[in-house]
Amino acid sequence: MAGGPAPGRSLAGRRVLLGVTGGIAAYKAASLARLLSAAGADVRVVMTPAASRFVGPDTFAALTRNPVHQDVFEATDRVLHVRLAREADAAVVAPATANVLAKLALGLADDLLTSILLEARCPLVLAPAMHTGMWTHPSTQANVAALAARGAIVVGPGEGPLAAGDEGVGRMAEPEEILRAVEAALGSPGAGDLAGVRVLVTAGPTHEPIDAVRFIGNRSSGKMGFTVAAEAARRGASVTLVSGPVPLPDPQGVAVVRVETAAEMFEAVTARAEASDLVVMAAAVADFRPGEVHPGKIKKGDGPPQLALEPTPDILSGLGAAKGSGQVLVGFAAETEDLEAEARRKLKAKNLDLIVANEVGRPGTGFGADTNRAAIVGRGEEGTPLREWTKVELAAAILDRAAGLLAAARAAAGSTV
Ligand code: CTP
Repeated sequence: MAGGPAPGRSLAGRRVLLGVTGGIAAYKAASLARLLSAAGADVRVVMTPAASRFVGPDTFAALTRNPVHQDVFEATDRVLHVRLAREADAAVVAPATANVLAKLALGLADDLLTSILLEARCPLVLAPAMHTGMWTHPSTQANVAALAARGAIVVGPGEGPLAAGDEGVGRMAEPEEILRAVEAALGSPGAGDLAGVRVLVTAGPTHEPIDAVRFIGNRSSGKMGFTVAAEAARRGASVTLVSGPVPLPDPQGVAVVRVETAAEMFEAVTARAEASDLVVMAAAVADFRPGEVHPGKIKKGDGPPQLALEPTPDILSGLGAAKGSGQVLVGFAAETEDLEAEARRKLKAKNLDLIVANEVGRPGTGFGADTNRAAIVGRGEEGTPLREWTKVELAAAILDRAAGLLAAARAAAGSTV
């Protein structure tokens, strides 16, 4: 099935214009150029003057085996911007700075890249990257909304480390995710294989209040569930995402329900589960919550509070018990040790079809990171062994496996959907 970790030659024969603008994420555009080329695309890179302060044109020329363009008035070709615009099957700007988004929204054409993009009529993928304040500024949000309304496909940004030691929303989407958006824009294989499938995904932590200002929570960033939801939508599914409190923006084409507590997540998920063909529970739901929530703020002078905890409902166990025929349930098992054995135990106990055994508690993997060390465990012997994945790769692999199970379940139920 398409959409697995290896990109294959999904873009063979397609010409992709890659615009690189001036941000620290320009170094990741080199990986994107490599992935696009490896997928078979003929990649033409256009850099703004600021981009070449972060990464040199020779890098892109070597990776794409094509000349890199930077100047509207390149001596050999007087209508370079028109030619590059018309020859492109798709254009992608990665990273897209706040400045280039503003220029594109206004239709400015004061350098080679913006001149090409004003002339071009091919699908346009934008991968914004900037500091959180610039991204959340109403001007940028209005520009992005205007571009999206005109059909531009906006990928990311995600949350994580930014330039100069800052953290927050504004980090460029991973190159694999941008590649998938380009594939989807060009209708390449993999896009659309979940058409008609109703998918429910959960993401993020839950916050269990202690008093008016404090809560018990965990380090889940929500990235994994958001990536699964975005990938399922890209593949044509109708997707609802129930998310705990995380600062990630709504993925494109996904209906998002924001909740705080395990009880709210329970309500939101159980109300929608029956009408879902596939449920992926990536949320790190709190197992315990304070039995009583202090209505005001607990005062220090009253001494350390004695917190009596009570269990929260196990949402996934409830779904497993009520699972309809033809429905596929995917859980996650966040473990620090005995990964696969614990995952198999939870798979059986919760009546799941697949479980993703996810290693947590080590730097660089699991909660908050862009990569996961994980194994995908099914009911039979066949499994995907423990390995390092980007969250985009893992999301694609989970959906590949789930799509196979859905097809088998539907065939068994005699459905032709
Ligand atoms: N889960 C759930 N409701 C809960 C706790 C967990 O639906 N109250 C789901 C998670 O979303 C995940 C799966 O159950 O898909 C396993 O979660 P995990 O925390 O690994 O397992 P637990 O059952 O909580 O067991 P333990 O904490 O003992 O490892």
